[in-house]
Amino acid sequence: MLHVLKHPLLTHKLTQMRKKETGTKDFRQNLDEIGGLMAYEITRDLPVKAVEIETPVTKCKTYELEKEIILVPILRAGLGMVNGICTLIPTVKIAHVGLYRDEETLQPHVYFEKYPKHMDEAIVMIVDPMLATGGSSVAAIDMVKKQGAKNIRLICLVGAPEGVQAVEQAHPDVDIYLAALDDKLNEKGYIVPGLGDAGDRIFGTK
Ligand code: PRP
Ligand code: URA
Repeated sequence: MLHVLKHPLLTHKLTQMRKKETGTKDFRQNLDEIGGLMAYEITRDLPVKAVEIETPVTKCKTYELEKEIILVPILRAGLGMVNGICTLIPTVKIAHVGLYRDEETLQPHVYFEKYPKHMDEAIVMIVDPMLATGGSSVAAIDMVKKQGAKNIRLICLVGAPEGVQAVEQAHPDVDIYLAALDDKLNEKGYIVPGLGDAGDRIFGTK
């Protein structure tokens, strides 16, 4: 299922990121802040368990998060969303999936993967700012499923309809969260209007 998150702060920050004159520092800072805002929305329905605790005043029954959360940034650009989400959920464990998209074929290539234990029991959140053709996200979901992950969410900043459709087709069980659903892909596989190459703008390459 697709969730497009609507919030004036999200839209404002994303607009700053879209502007071609925005430099690396402001691009990174806005992405960081958006990560935190999105974390609040995507965790609304996390399961909780009943616990009994003792406050300085009395015993009481209350709730805690039931499941471990594992964040899976798709390298490189996904790293830009980790900090903001960790600020809100400091207990997350972090897997890494290294993928790059071949500029000619647009096919994803795996170059790194590392996971914490218990992927099968955790809520697994894959993060990447860009969902373009969907090839990278579909590959990352395939990879975490091979590790046993069952409860998977995909969190991206900007998505193209083509990418959403590809993920929905390959992995109908995965919820997709976006801050914006853009118009289309161009002939080079870039999202239109989009924000350009997210990895290059985050890390100042090219
Ligand atoms: C970008 C982006 C996604 C992918 C999206 O990464 O961060 O991972 O492209 O495109 P897709 O939906 O068509 O697969 P890129 O391969 O440029 O690597 P980078 O993050 O290292 O820049
Ligand atoms: N990857 C990006 O970084 N940007 C796009 O628009 C498409 C893929």
